[in-house]
Amino acid sequence: MKRVAFWAALAIVFAVAAGCGHKRVAPYAPRMPDVKEHKGQTSDEDCLDCHALASLPDHSVSDSCLDCHRVIPGR
Ligand code: HEC
Ligand code: HEC
Repeated sequence: MKRVAFWAALAIVFAVAAGCGHKRVAPYAPRMPDVKEHKGQTSDEDCLDCHALASLPDHSVSDSCLDCHRVIPGR
């Protein structure tokens, strides 16, 4: 019985950890690649010219893209 409880607890831990990967947590947001298209991007509307909102999981128009996505120079 104890053993079952252990595996059940472990399963819950993994389920929660896996869920976190899909929450929109800024540190987990992919960096904007340091490509020429991203040079000098300062407004959120600009992003939508190239990135279709419909193709982004859990994103909305009111998002401040740059709060979460930044260019890391050289990457
Ligand atoms: C002129 C077109 C253009 C604009 C404007 C633009 N992007 Fe991009 N973006 C691209 C291209 C092209 C790529 C793919 C680059 C590569 O991987 O070589 C990309 C890739 C990305 C990625 C990585 C996607 C992934 O799957 O890892 C993120 C994040 C991103 N852009 C965010 C933004 C944000 C936020 C803005 C607004 C500040 C923005 N982009 C504005 C063209 C653009
Ligand atoms: C609250 C933080 C947050 C904000 C604001 C935000 N994003 Fe994201 N974005 C994320 C996370 C986290 C991911 C990773 C995908 C996932 O796990 O849902 C992501 C993924 C992406 C990707 C890659 C999608 C893919 O298919 O790999 C692009 C491009 C992107 N965001 C662009 C934008 C644009 C454009 C905006 C503004 C409209 C924006 N993001 C606003 C957190 C954010």
